[in-house]
Amino acid sequence: MSISRRNLLRNIGAGAIVGAAAPALRGFPLAPAMEAALWGNSAPAQPAHAAGAVVVEPVLLYRNENPYGPSEKVLAVLRESAASGNRYPRTEYDTLLDKLAALHNVKREQIVLGCGSGEILCMAAMAFLKPGKKLVEAAPTFPALGKLAQTAGIEVADVPLNERYGHDVPAMLDRVGSSTGLVYIVNPNNPTGTLTPRKDLEAFVAKLPSGVMVLIDEAYHHFVSPAADYESFLDRPIGDPRIIVARTFSKIFGLAGLRIGYAVATPEAAKRLAAGFPGWSVSVVSARAASAALDDVDYVRLGVKRNAADRQEFLSQANARSLHPIESQSNFVMMNPQRPPDEVIGYLKKRNILIGPKYPALDKYVRISLGLPGEMKIFWDAWDQMPSAAKM
Ligand SMILES: Cc1ncc(COP(=O)(O)O)c(C=O)c1O
Repeated sequence: MSISRRNLLRNIGAGAIVGAAAPALRGFPLAPAMEAALWGNSAPAQPAHAAGAVVVEPVLLYRNENPYGPSEKVLAVLRESAASGNRYPRTEYDTLLDKLAALHNVKREQIVLGCGSGEILCMAAMAFLKPGKKLVEAAPTFPALGKLAQTAGIEVADVPLNERYGHDVPAMLDRVGSSTGLVYIVNPNNPTGTLTPRKDLEAFVAKLPSGVMVLIDEAYHHFVSPAADYESFLDRPIGDPRIIVARTFSKIFGLAGLRIGYAVATPEAAKRLAAGFPGWSVSVVSARAASAALDDVDYVRLGVKRNAADRQEFLSQANARSLHPIESQSNFVMMNPQRPPDEVIGYLKKRNILIGPKYPALDKYVRISLGLPGEMKIFWDAWDQMPSAAKM
């Protein structure tokens, strides 16, 4: 029998498959997760891989994905769109750009689409960094941009987060000078899930030398609880032409596998950002799915509510075990496992549970992405069975 973990959890409850996550089951071909996401419960039965074998996917708590997947309305659009896979994008980009422009109250030429917001980060690196024009970012933060810059031989100033795990704005300002090409701000930050207060960011931007561009990555925007010190730079722009905001469809909309994100900037900055990129890296299917996802506002609301409840439950479980979780405003939580992170990551991996990587700038912590409630039960059960550090 081939079975996806998601459907299994829904159908028979989490407790029954704790044993099924055991290492003995690893190594079988995985259930077709993409098919399940596309076709839901109407998927045709999968052929058995081996008589009686139960195929169980790993518990994926490592990439801050949306474990609930896209909405039913988006799944319906995905089903319909598959047949258009023989055509290059025609009207799909225009439709999506119009929706995004209306949503953010900007002109179409202020938006750049990307193959995930990851591609937006690449564009920003290509446009604004070069040897002699360094990148300033927090440490730890989402590492893709810094790694790209380093690979290209560009200097990267990694500025440790402050004691509240926010961007240390004064220290970052100290590292900015005429040789800075780009500042990268992730808010809420990944991997900590923490916020940098809006007023601090505004004060920071006001003091930057002219010509220094600022990329504000709002990948986790939707997960922030209503808070006085957070406001998106898209919802309330400050009219500074150096600001570029990146967003993604990978998180609240549940479309990580479809690879689609975007940036909003001035028309001039948008043009610079997109320069040198072909402009067709978003597929017809992804563009249609993204448009449908924007329309399905009820699903976004549901996702926000569900994430807040899942996060609260996680924080309670972590606090009950004295794991000192960092107060997250996102769909993942960092906590101090009170033992070497490498050992924890390795132990859970052996139990077929994947969590985030080790972050050298916060090397006593592990990052757990929130999964389905049943998956979190598997996680905590495994956690509670973890041998003490000395015995590992
Ligand atoms: C802060 C941040 N930015 C960007 C990305 C890239 O997301 P994607 O390329 O899926 O849009 C991620 C992925 O986890 C992220 O955490």
